[in-house]
Amino acid sequence: MRDPFPRPAIHDIDSAQSLEAWIHALPKVELHLHLEGSVQPETLRELSRVKGRLERETEAWIRQQEERNFRYGNLAEFLNAFKLVSLLLESPSDYALVTERLLQSLAAQNVRYAEITLSAGVILWKRQSLPGTFEAVSEVARRFESVAPLKVRWIFDAVRQFGTDHAREVLGWARMFRGRDVVAFGIGGDEERGPAELFKDVYQEARNDGLHCIAHAGEGHNPAGMHQAIRLLKPERIGHGIAAARDPEVVQLLRDHEIPLEICLTSNISTGLFKDVRDHPMKQLWDAGVRVTLNTDDPALFATNLEDEFALATRVFGFGPAEIMTLCQNAIEASFMTENEKREFRTRLYQAACGPPGQANP
Ligand code: ADE
Ligand code: ZN
Repeated sequence: MRDPFPRPAIHDIDSAQSLEAWIHALPKVELHLHLEGSVQPETLRELSRVKGRLERETEAWIRQQEERNFRYGNLAEFLNAFKLVSLLLESPSDYALVTERLLQSLAAQNVRYAEITLSAGVILWKRQSLPGTFEAVSEVARRFESVAPLKVRWIFDAVRQFGTDHAREVLGWARMFRGRDVVAFGIGGDEERGPAELFKDVYQEARNDGLHCIAHAGEGHNPAGMHQAIRLLKPERIGHGIAAARDPEVVQLLRDHEIPLEICLTSNISTGLFKDVRDHPMKQLWDAGVRVTLNTDDPALFATNLEDEFALATRVFGFGPAEIMTLCQNAIEASFMTENEKREFRTRLYQAACGPPGQANP
């Protein structure tokens, strides 16, 4: 695999605390992040309080998640929680509020570039205005970008189990907003009920329209869906893809086609895929030569953030500065930034990595 970047002489980082400070100072990229999954309990409370509706129900639901430590029995249970939160977003101004909060959180972690997934399919399913919603969130992002060093791009995501026509409708809107920082089309939701073969033509159309294509796939233990997704959809990145660890042929496909994985450690624990994070195959896939990036998926619904995910990788897999740098570089390379943007980002990353721990070079 190409190393786009000479390895910097990184400071001796002698304690977990200074490693965390060093990670904080790195300008970071996040690629797998759902807007609706980023809504913090406090914002849910605020939304219901301001509207004077569903206050008790919202509070009870939040308490339940807190008691369960934001763990869900399985992916289906989690997807239901995602749906409930999405239902509390009732207007473009609700979406604008949660976007503002997400961007504040990203900026506070020194995330400098994010590709945020908007569940366009869910907005259509709710019969809300997708153009109205996107206008609202993209306006927030534009304003935020003018005052903070954070660049946002958008991915429009369709719901697999809603089928082909639905996905094509989402694609139509993604195409419409291509000039407005919508860079990619993707599918999420239930892999079993929405197999890749349904979306082969839609993905070809998306590529013809000049959109990047990604897909959630292999977010479970069955690699068959990943085979299909890679062959039929030709995604440029795969969300999760951990099922690859069970099939050397899929690993070979990922390597041959240089398809990066968007790994989300806490997400996979919280949806019950692994009891213990030490059983997660991220390191195995890394060792097998797969390009791995680290992400949060739905940070509020899993009570995590990107810095926590990096800290987890250091604790669980023994990742040190060199591996953290590789993760950051992988995310730059796997992103849909322009080549110029990537070059500038690499330089900033390199400068921050080699500066004194805890002192980013903005
Ligand atoms: N939508 C939001 N989070 C998701 C996940 N982890 N898998 C599939 N669809 C999703
Ligand atoms: Zn996801």
